[in-house]
Amino acid sequence: MGMYRDHVLPRVVNMCCSTSTAEPLRERVCAGLSGDVVEIGFGTGLNVPFYPAAVSRVAAIEPADLGWRLAAEKVSATRVTVERSGLDGQSLPFADHTFDCAVSTWTLCTIPDVETALAEVRRVLRPGGTLHFVEHGLAPDDAVARWQHRIEPLQKRVFGGCHLTRQIPALVEQSGFEIAELDVFYQESTPRVMGAYSLGVATT
Ligand SMILES: C[S@@+](CC[C@H](N)C(=O)[O-])C[C@H]1O[C@@H](n2cnc3c(N)ncnc32)[C@H](O)[C@@H]1O
Repeated sequence: MGMYRDHVLPRVVNMCCSTSTAEPLRERVCAGLSGDVVEIGFGTGLNVPFYPAAVSRVAAIEPADLGWRLAAEKVSATRVTVERSGLDGQSLPFADHTFDCAVSTWTLCTIPDVETALAEVRRVLRPGGTLHFVEHGLAPDDAVARWQHRIEPLQKRVFGGCHLTRQIPALVEQSGFEIAELDVFYQESTPRVMGAYSLGVATT
């Protein structure tokens, strides 16, 4: 499993996440970012081209060494300073109130203890700081949700612990954030079990 996780999975994730249909969503999520930013589950840096000019630096949190290596070209091409600053969203190596914004794109599905990760993100954001996210999760339709529950064990095995049935907006709110903007929709080009998306901004 280590071989798959370390040498194959980051490439599989990169392929699945680098679709052209994801790009407008990345652009929307990144649009309001500014100042000091922490990105959890940085992956292969697919959000880097969408960081606006108002971003001064990004602290990237990513456990996969290969993901970080695959991001190298994008990281060196951007004028934003991007540093790999940690390995685990569940334990962020920063003082309280360090960042203006946080980003999570298709990551809250995967982090094992998502409540702890959200609490960590909230801790390191400054008062009034914002979490910008797009995530897949539990579908609003019962028929789709039933399939998500059936498929989830396989999904978790193949995609490094990725859950299909997390209720992301509820988890964000339960960790103390206030949701300021939220768009819930099915991504048309994606099977509905994986395409029930929530995209939003939450404030501390
Ligand atoms: C589906 S990928 C999404 C990658 C990237 N955010 C994107 O939009 O392309 C999930 C990412 O979460 C990362 N991840 C897994 N466990 C994590 C953890 N405990 N803390 C931070 N990131 C984690 C994985 O290595 C992977 O890069």
